[in-house]
Amino acid sequence: MDVLSNTTHFHIFTWVVGIIVFLVAASMDTESKGRKILHMVARLFYVLILISGALLFFRYSSMDGALYGVKFLLGLVTIGMMEMVLVRSKKNKSVKMFWILFFVFLLATLFLGFKLPMGINWFA
Ligand code: HEM
Repeated sequence: MDVLSNTTHFHIFTWVVGIIVFLVAASMDTESKGRKILHMVARLFYVLILISGALLFFRYSSMDGALYGVKFLLGLVTIGMMEMVLVRSKKNKSVKMFWILFFVFLLATLFLGFKLPMGINWFA
């Protein structure tokens, strides 16, 4: 699995595609077949984000256990907010708060990811 955690490329690929699929699914009619399929694809990408993030985590977290732990949690919560938006809008429940939380956690995850030592270090 080294080949997937030598760089952050695989992880970046999984969360970029996952977020795009999520945004397209969320913009579709809640009863449409296309949305059901994209929701399934989004769930597949949740798993890939998790696997790619965990591979990086297990390999590099000894550099800074606390911050890597926070990155892990922020990533998980961001995925949680994506799923809440899709599931609650399907049930016609209000999703405004979950959209706000999604953007807040996404920004925090991106910031910490780009701060941590692997890959791109815009905020180091
Ligand atoms: C939607 C969710 C997620 C987003 C948007 C995200 C975003 C990012 C970004 C921007 C980076 C930095 C890449 C680079 O510097 O080249 C990164 C790295 C990383 N992510 Fe995630 N991530 C997410 C989910 C996760 C999850 C669930 C985990 C844990 C299972 C995780 C663990 C890591 C680790 C360990 C790194 C390496 C940190 C470093 O040293 O740069 N991420 N992520």
